[in-house]
Amino acid sequence: MSKSRIINLLRNGQPDQQVTIQGWVRTKRESKKFAFMEVNDGSSLANLQVILEPTLDNYEDKLNKINTGASVEVTGTLAESPGKGQNIELQAQTVTIYGEADPETYPLQKKRHSFEFLRSIGHIRTRTNTLGAVMRVRNACATAVHQFFQQHGFLWVHTPIITTNDCEGAGELFNVTSFDLNNIPQENGEIDYSQDFFGRPAYLTVSGQLEAEAMALTFDRVYTFGPTFRAENSNTSRHLAEFWMIEPEMAFCDLKGDMDWAEAFLKHIFKTVLDQCPEDMEFFNKRIDDSVLATADNIINQDFERLSYTSAIALLEKADKKFEYPVEWGIDLQSEHERYLCEEYFQKPVILTDYPSDIKAFYMRLNDDEKTVGAMDVLAPKIGEIIGGSQREERLDVLEKRIKEAGMEPEQLWWYLDLRRYGTVPHSGFGLGFERLIQFMTGMQNIRDVIPFPRTPDNAEF
Ligand code: 4AD
Ligand code: MG
Repeated sequence: MSKSRIINLLRNGQPDQQVTIQGWVRTKRESKKFAFMEVNDGSSLANLQVILEPTLDNYEDKLNKINTGASVEVTGTLAESPGKGQNIELQAQTVTIYGEADPETYPLQKKRHSFEFLRSIGHIRTRTNTLGAVMRVRNACATAVHQFFQQHGFLWVHTPIITTNDCEGAGELFNVTSFDLNNIPQENGEIDYSQDFFGRPAYLTVSGQLEAEAMALTFDRVYTFGPTFRAENSNTSRHLAEFWMIEPEMAFCDLKGDMDWAEAFLKHIFKTVLDQCPEDMEFFNKRIDDSVLATADNIINQDFERLSYTSAIALLEKADKKFEYPVEWGIDLQSEHERYLCEEYFQKPVILTDYPSDIKAFYMRLNDDEKTVGAMDVLAPKIGEIIGGSQREERLDVLEKRIKEAGMEPEQLWWYLDLRRYGTVPHSGFGLGFERLIQFMTGMQNIRDVIPFPRTPDNAEF
């Protein structure tokens, strides 16, 4: 059977065309002479209106079974729609009901549900307009990520999820444990949960960066795109315990080059998504945040602001605004500071560079002042940090010193140090939090609503 996707019919369908669609009923209405149902198949925000005439086989019986949520297949003829809003509708000839949905218990009613309620029905919430649009935009972003890097000769490398290193050195690791599910010790169990990757400690990765660096020193330009894990017990609207990260790594590239790549990359993604999902993006602008389209335009057409951490601190100290967290050189910027800079002061994305070495990871390249490192964070209006990156320390002796200062053991990172012994080059990279990007693009306020199944301290059920 060749079926049509609704998005294609709405864009290119012609009157009198014979088609078959499959999908889920969004609404059903009855008038005196016939009934309508709106069918959605996930391919677009808009539904296809289907007209059910009383001449249909078992008309009455069908009408009883077709309710919001039911799954159907409809074969019929397209016709010009007299109604407002869409050009085309489907005159049904045959309707098959695959699965009914009891209107007494089906959790989605024809009204606005809160995002909080929708999180409690994570297995069904993507059938709403907003969550459906989020998932389509997410898909378009993921495709644009690959397209950008592939066009520029980057190799996609798959870095491990189980690892023995703590790349960010922040101690926010989930431990990996193996045990026999049928024989879990109930009390005083003998499993040593800290040493159980076949007798040694191992963790879920917080970042694929260190392995990506190894790959960059073969392939010059590489990127990762995969899940990463952070055991931060923080219930905020921007943190997940499991999130997807994109980490490009470029050999023969300094901090300026790193910023240029990050900016070109974000511009490409916004442009592509506006092109591919215009209806979904308009929906976000209308229903979620009326600055979504203006922000996208701003990203695509304006240069990002670039300034050093030290200059940013000076700006914040001069700001005629009282911050909750006091500003002084050396602090880790809080989201209120980041938001002031990009929302109020510059009103566009800001790239901050050269942070104090004490608040950044061991692998960042020490600057000549020996106080700051070649770091760069991209800050976005309403979200704060969406990208963290740096030029990497490529000098063996300096790196060894920095690892020790960070309280880590150089022996554990012997292979990472080897990369500085054999054919070292200046190199740089960054990490983009994929869900923060989707938040930024759609205006969705809570990060739990831009990933199909969020993992947070309060949810791992579905
Ligand atoms: O700044 P981070 O910790 O940097 C790294 O992991 C580096 N290894 C990246 C690199 O240079 N290759 O994380 C990068 C980005 C952040 O800017 C943020 O967007 C996102 O990852 N992120 C999170 N997103 C959701 N939930 C969390 N708990 C996140 N923690 C970081
Ligand atoms: Mg960071």
